[in-house]
Amino acid sequence: MTTIDPTTQVLAQLGISDPAGVPPLFADARKRFDDQVLQHASDPGSWQTFVVAWTGRKSGVLSQITDNWLKPAPPDLKRVVGQELNKLKAHIESIFAEREASMKAAAEKAAAARDKIDLSLPGIERPIGTRHVIRQTFEELQRIFLSIGFSVVEGPEIETPYYNFEALNIPEHHPARDNMDTFYIEGTREPHLLRTHTSPMQIRTMEKQQPPVRIIVPGKVYRRDNPDSTHGYMFHQIEGLAVDTDITFCDFKGTVEYFVREFLGPRVKTRLRPSFFPFTEPSAEVDASCHICGGTGCRVCKHSGWIELFGAGMVNPAVYGFVNYDALRLSGFAFGMGVDRLAMIKYGIPEVPLLFQNDVRFLRQFP
Ligand code: DAH
Repeated sequence: MTTIDPTTQVLAQLGISDPAGVPPLFADARKRFDDQVLQHASDPGSWQTFVVAWTGRKSGVLSQITDNWLKPAPPDLKRVVGQELNKLKAHIESIFAEREASMKAAAEKAAAARDKIDLSLPGIERPIGTRHVIRQTFEELQRIFLSIGFSVVEGPEIETPYYNFEALNIPEHHPARDNMDTFYIEGTREPHLLRTHTSPMQIRTMEKQQPPVRIIVPGKVYRRDNPDSTHGYMFHQIEGLAVDTDITFCDFKGTVEYFVREFLGPRVKTRLRPSFFPFTEPSAEVDASCHICGGTGCRVCKHSGWIELFGAGMVNPAVYGFVNYDALRLSGFAFGMGVDRLAMIKYGIPEVPLLFQNDVRFLRQFP
């Protein structure tokens, strides 16, 4: 048996001629609506279809009631049909409005939960790294020399033999070239090589600048050494040069002693040992009393009580000839330090390769 939808019929067809018959008719319609609300509430996908089925302008239930029950109603029923229809409309609209508001609120809540940042959670820690122990040592050395009036200059790592050797008073067949033989670069018109020391910057600086000169030169240098626990093919140096009209050996010694105390501590003593470099005369090796054992002998100083730090000396007047400085009027001193070596001495690092293996267990010891 198919039931006929009452809203498709006029009141007379439904057998209603008395105003008292109207409210039950609307009560039935309202009940059908309320039942459907419950059905669709659990199925958000069908909600919109449901809304259209009741309020759609063309064939929605409310339109049909208006067309079939209200418009053709006899005058004595019209008032009550109108009142009942308005009540039903208000009911339906309030349910739909309520539902729309709660769906909007739920969507907003879900979005807020998605975007929420919980400030009490631990953050993501991204390791940012630290300065390498060699970099730290460079900075310490620069701090010391800047504090007594030196300034920093840098120079090319690819040099000509003139700056790397000749102008430093190391002629072509001089034996001092032997232990410094290096990487020559093929295919250049003039011969070029990777600098074996930072000393070429002494020449480049004096060519450009009149005294007083007070510079340090940090940088990388290269030698054709076979890598072992104390050598690599690349290492770091800081060169120093001071030239003026009145610089004496006392200034040289005082500067060196000040540096050693600043770098290794106030209890360390300094010793100069005669040495040879073609670009200094006299030349010296600067030794420090062992900062670990205080000079009584230990593993670090190889039981001698002294540690060789770096080479230095008074600038050889022959060098001034290459840069058109007046050797009779001027004097100065120079030094060249191995930064890796100084770092190893200061921090007790036993082997060169440790410095360049990038093992974080090593690097973390120098935060
Ligand atoms: N250039 C030298 C080297 O690499 C180090 C050196 C010694 C530099 C004495 C100097 C100096 O300026 O005076 O072995």
